[in-house]
Amino acid sequence: VTTSADTLTVDLGDRSYPIEIGAACLEGLGLRLAGILSGRSVVVLSDSNVAPLYGEAALSSLRAAGFQADLCTVAAGESSKSLDVLSFVFDFLVRNRMSRQGVIVALGGGVVGDLAGFAAATYLRGIDYVQAPTSLVAMVDSSVGGKTGINHPAGKNLIGAFWQPRLVFVDTDLLRTLPRRELVAGMAEVIKHGVIRDEGYFAFVESNAEAILQDDPAAMARVVEGSCRIKAAVVAEDEREISGIRAHLNFGHTLAHALEANAGYGTLRHGEAVAIGMEAAGRLATERGMWSAGELNRLVSLLNKMGLPTRIPPGLQLDPLMETMRLDKKVKDGRVRFVLPTRLGAVTLVDDVSMDEVRRVCGDLIEG
Ligand SMILES: NC(=O)c1ccc[n+]([C@@H]2O[C@H](COP(=O)([O-])OP(=O)(O)OC[C@H]3O[C@@H](n4cnc5c(N)ncnc54)[C@H](O)[C@@H]3O)[C@@H](O)[C@H]2O)c1
Ligand SMILES: [Zn+2]
Repeated sequence: VTTSADTLTVDLGDRSYPIEIGAACLEGLGLRLAGILSGRSVVVLSDSNVAPLYGEAALSSLRAAGFQADLCTVAAGESSKSLDVLSFVFDFLVRNRMSRQGVIVALGGGVVGDLAGFAAATYLRGIDYVQAPTSLVAMVDSSVGGKTGINHPAGKNLIGAFWQPRLVFVDTDLLRTLPRRELVAGMAEVIKHGVIRDEGYFAFVESNAEAILQDDPAAMARVVEGSCRIKAAVVAEDEREISGIRAHLNFGHTLAHALEANAGYGTLRHGEAVAIGMEAAGRLATERGMWSAGELNRLVSLLNKMGLPTRIPPGLQLDPLMETMRLDKKVKDGRVRFVLPTRLGAVTLVDDVSMDEVRRVCGDLIEG
């Protein structure tokens, strides 16, 4: 039974698509798909954690609605965003004789969503796909906006395509089985959305922090709805990150990417790195007199309240971090590009931050 449902739209002309947010609605997936897609053949792509939990429910819903549905499972974890695993997915599609009318359903977190989206973008020059996100990161961020791709040993997301899904189908009940650390990591992107675009949403998260940490259904529904609304608006304004508006979503990410690259796989969740990166960007902004110390305080308090880190963990050294940033394409003539807040709910792109400023702020954030 669908206990509640909310529909948003990502406005992209003839590539527009709905985001449907409900609770206990996974069993309605098949009927919903039957309403918009003419294809009859579906491959559900999932990972080794999510497939045992929700794979059967998705398949039976699709079959009950008249689809021929098969499950393709990849290993859980970032390492599945690879050419090898992509190749395994193509083999599965070919073996299933998936045609141009076929559909891929991404049932999983951001890893599955990015991999499934890129497989859909490239198989037979592009087939339809649907995002059925199961992690908080996927529900509030990666399932919306059409950025798909895999990693290369030289860097994250180096191979990819913009390819929009036909539908984003969210069942917030699936969060019940999500490990707490993953839920908390997802909250970093939620808080980011408030800072870059919507003070009211930020304040909602502030005053509902306890309910959110307890995975309260009503609070989570509003969190997912609020973030999807913001992400959808940003994507509709600047789908391919040309005007600079979509780049606002990178708030906290300049340092986060360097931290992730240096921490080694599995030690720091992406959201945790983003939390530290947001504090660093916030400090840069206040030191430049662009942002108030009071608002920076609100940000750091909220991150801490959520259980997110705001200090660079022990073991990470300043020099290698600075070196990673220097090698990053964001650095030009010793200047780094940062998204900096000007008030809660607004940010701006700044491309003249010096490596000295970055080093000073990072030095202050190193633990110990
Ligand atoms: N395309 C985009 O715009 C975009 C945006 C943000 C992040 N990303 C990408 O998303 C990835 C990170 O996403 P993520 O944090 O969801 O990681 P993930 O897909 O690895 O999921 C995190 C963990 O939670 C497990 N899991 C997911 N849903 C579950 C559930 N309901 N119950 C129990 N376990 C569950 C997964 O198996 C995994 O172990 C990164 O690769 C990142 O680059 C993409
Ligand atoms: Zn992110």
